[in-house]
Amino acid sequence: MTRIKFDYSPLTKFVHDNELSEMQALIKACDQELRQKTGAGSDFTGFVDLPIEYDHEEFDRIKRAAKKIRNDSEVFVAIGIGGSYLGARMACDFLNLNFGNWQDNRKNPIVIFAGNSISGTYLHEILELIGDKDFSINVISKSGTTTEPSIAFRILKEKLIKKYGRAEAAKRIYATTDRKKGALKTESDAEGYEEFVVPDAIGGRYSVMSAVGLLPIAVAGGNIDQLMDGFSAGRKEYNSFDLNKNEAYQYAALRNILLRKGYEVEILENYEPSLQYLGEWWKQLAGESEGKDQKGIYPSSANFSTDLHSLGQYIQEGRRFLFETVVKVDHPRYDLEIPKENDNLDGLQYLEGKKMSYVNEQAYRGVVIAHTDGGVPVMTINIDQQDEYTLGQLIYFFEIAIGISGYLNGVNPFNQPGVEAYKNNMFALLGRPGFEKETTEIKKRENDFF
Ligand code: PA5
Repeated sequence: MTRIKFDYSPLTKFVHDNELSEMQALIKACDQELRQKTGAGSDFTGFVDLPIEYDHEEFDRIKRAAKKIRNDSEVFVAIGIGGSYLGARMACDFLNLNFGNWQDNRKNPIVIFAGNSISGTYLHEILELIGDKDFSINVISKSGTTTEPSIAFRILKEKLIKKYGRAEAAKRIYATTDRKKGALKTESDAEGYEEFVVPDAIGGRYSVMSAVGLLPIAVAGGNIDQLMDGFSAGRKEYNSFDLNKNEAYQYAALRNILLRKGYEVEILENYEPSLQYLGEWWKQLAGESEGKDQKGIYPSSANFSTDLHSLGQYIQEGRRFLFETVVKVDHPRYDLEIPKENDNLDGLQYLEGKKMSYVNEQAYRGVVIAHTDGGVPVMTINIDQQDEYTLGQLIYFFEIAIGISGYLNGVNPFNQPGVEAYKNNMFALLGRPGFEKETTEIKKRENDFF
C-alpha cells in the first residue's frame, strides 16, 4: 500500500499538459539504462534491488548488535560524514527519536553523531557529554580513510580504551566499512571489532538502507523491519517506466522540465521541524548525483513556517530561478488544540478550538498560492505519517527519482569526482605522505590567496 502521493497540480501555469507525456520516451530509455545496468556508473546501482537483495544474516546481526548496545550503553556515538551519516541522522529525526536523548526516563541510548566536521569544539562537547557514562562507537566509512571520521574515531577510541582497557573497548566498537579494503577494515580485522559491510554496489549517498544507516537507526529505537518493508514497498511502487504509473518518475521528469525552463534551484521544504535533516540528506543525494559537467539543479532546503520569516521574502519576490518541492505530512504524530482564553489580548480568539495541524495546513495552502502567483513552481510529496514504513518508501522514491534525474540530464548519477579537489589540496597543505609534489605546488599558490 502506498503511503506517498505526489501532487503537481499547482504547476499548470509553468508546465503544459503535453510536456510531461513528451518525456515518456526519454524516461523509458533512462529506466532501461538504470535497470539493465547499461548506463554510466552502473556498478553503483545496487540500491535499486537492495530491498530484495540485502544480506539477511547481517540484518539480523544488526538487530542483535543494536540490542546489546541498548543494554550496555548510555551513549552511542555514530561516527561518519556525508553518506555515512546523513541518512541515519535524517531517519532518527524523522522518526522523532531525538528528543528522547534529553528525557530522564528515555528508553534508548543518547545517540550522537560525530566525525561530520573538523571542529575540536564539537568533539570536546561530545567528550564532556559522555563523561563517565557507558558508551559505544559505530565508526562508519566506506573508504575507511576519510579524514573527519578518522580523527573523531581516534579521539573517541582513546577515551573508550582509557575507560575499559583495549580488549573491552574493542567489544564496544562497531565498524561499518568496505568488505575488503581500507584502513578501517585493516584496523578492524586486527582489533577484532564487530564488522558490518557497506555493499560494493552502493555509494555513500544511497547507503542509508544498508548497515550504514540501519545500525544507528536500530540503536535509536527505530524498527528496521518496518523500515525495510516500506523500502521494499517503494521498489514495487516505483518499478514501472510508465509515467502514468510511476510518481517518482513524474517527479524526476517535472524537475527536468523545470530545469530546462531556467528553474535551476530546487528548495526541498517541510512543515515539520523533524524533517529538517530530510532536506540535508536529500541535498547530498541530489547535489552529488546531478551536479557535474557544469550541469544540474542546485539543491537547497528550507523549513517552514520557520524560514518563511527569513527566506520567504526572497522566494516570493527575488530572482525567478527557484522551484519548490514540499514534503508534507498528512497525519502528524501529535496534534494540539489552541486553548480558549476569557479575554482576547493576543487576538487569537478566531483560532480557539482549532488544531495546530489545521493552522499548519492553511499556512501551506497560503504559501502554495502566493508562491505560484509570484512565479515559483511548487510540487508536493504528501506522506501519510512519520513512521518507519512511510520513511522506507520515501527513501526509495527519492533514490530512484534522483538516479533517473541524473540520466535524464546526461550525467553519471553515481560518481562524485568533484569532492576530491578540496581533499587533495588539504592533504597537500597538511603534508600527508605521498603528496610531496602537490605540497610544493600548493605552497607556491597559497600566497595568492592568503
Ligand atoms: O557520497 C559520497 O561518496 C561522500 O559524500 C561520502 O559519503 C563521504 O565522503 C564519506 O565517505 P566514506 O564513507 O568513505 O568515509
